[in-house]
Amino acid sequence: MKNPFQSTGIVKDPAFCNREREQQEIKKYIENSQNILLYSHRRYGKTSLIFKVFSGLKNVSGVYIDLFGTTTIDDFLKNFLRGISVLETRASRLNRIVRETLSSIGVNITLDILTGSPTITPVVHAREKDRALEEVFAVLRKLSKKRKLAVAFDEFQEIADYGGDPFEKRLRSIIQQHTDVSFIFAGSQRHMITQMFRDSNRAFYMMAASYPLKRIEPNDYVHWIEGLYAKDRRSISPSTIGDVVWRCENHPAYVQEFFFWLWDERKVTKEIIDGVERRIIERQIAEFSAEWEALTINQKRALKLVASSGGNNLFTADKLSMHGFRTASQLSTALQGLVNKGLLDRNEEYKIYDPLFRRWLQQA
Ligand SMILES: Nc1ncnc2c1ncn2[C@@H]1O[C@H](COP(=O)(O)OP(=O)(O)OP(=O)(O)O)[C@@H](O)[C@H]1O
Ligand SMILES: [Mg+2]
Repeated sequence: MKNPFQSTGIVKDPAFCNREREQQEIKKYIENSQNILLYSHRRYGKTSLIFKVFSGLKNVSGVYIDLFGTTTIDDFLKNFLRGISVLETRASRLNRIVRETLSSIGVNITLDILTGSPTITPVVHAREKDRALEEVFAVLRKLSKKRKLAVAFDEFQEIADYGGDPFEKRLRSIIQQHTDVSFIFAGSQRHMITQMFRDSNRAFYMMAASYPLKRIEPNDYVHWIEGLYAKDRRSISPSTIGDVVWRCENHPAYVQEFFFWLWDERKVTKEIIDGVERRIIERQIAEFSAEWEALTINQKRALKLVASSGGNNLFTADKLSMHGFRTASQLSTALQGLVNKGLLDRNEEYKIYDPLFRRWLQQA
């Protein structure tokens, strides 16, 4: 059997583990035309979950719009049109609807050489951007063929940098008119995206039900991984799976990466898992170092403090002085900076959210 594990990219069956409850809950929101704010740290499985949910929808068409890397309203319009073109497989009809509906944007419709499906490549000469936005949503309506729609904007926080409030407000008002569509706003920069939806001065304030995506439960991993080994007529003990999941602190991408490397081992021992862990950290050293170097000196001190003390009772006088802080407020500013960067989680205690980054720090 081919290695079923996959540590990068969108995962589908059999590389997709569980998330049954999340799928049911998101489907319920969609069926009731509710908007959802789906957020988590990076690489927890937001995009994979969106595709999984969409593939299981019965009477609703799912439209996925990737906003990653978009920097302008023109980019937004382009990616929006590209995303909605999946709703129509006939190039001629797509062509007609697009040309009839868009007067502020020129378009080229091309056929994908490999798949034969049509793709809209807009030539945005939108002097009237307000109208362009209205028009692309009108295209969406026409393409939906009166079917119910779920529209996912992935990496939605990107729109905050397009250059201002007016666009966010316009987009909100159009979205508000589409009361029968469920919009999913997904994002990984937790601090930024939650601010967009929780700050009463922002356009998207209270526009969606909050849905923080958690890590996957150990039992779900055990069930899923045992199943994959069984398919290959092999077995793996729940305690071995548990050891890996524990090292990864349930982080979906890391669990996949460990098992990707463990799959070809005849017998998985603790020593072998240690070796895989060492190599995963080694491969990430460049990224970890870059992350580290981008920090201020106090953030570095704070991170070391959390790594060495476990995130509790950080503000004692001896810890402050041992880590080079003159005042408690210096430490709290540094910790807040690390939370905003997504390096630290703050619940009852501070926690370095990437378990291997923490181990690297502890070794350094
Ligand atoms: N349900 C799942 N089962 C098993 N592994 C998963 C699951 N979801 C995600 N993963 C693992 O996590 C990786 C990242 O998934 P995905 O790209 O969907 O996450 P994301 O939250 O959208 O990430 P990003 O923040 O980078 O956009 C996948 O390549 C896979 O290794
Ligand atoms: Mg994603």
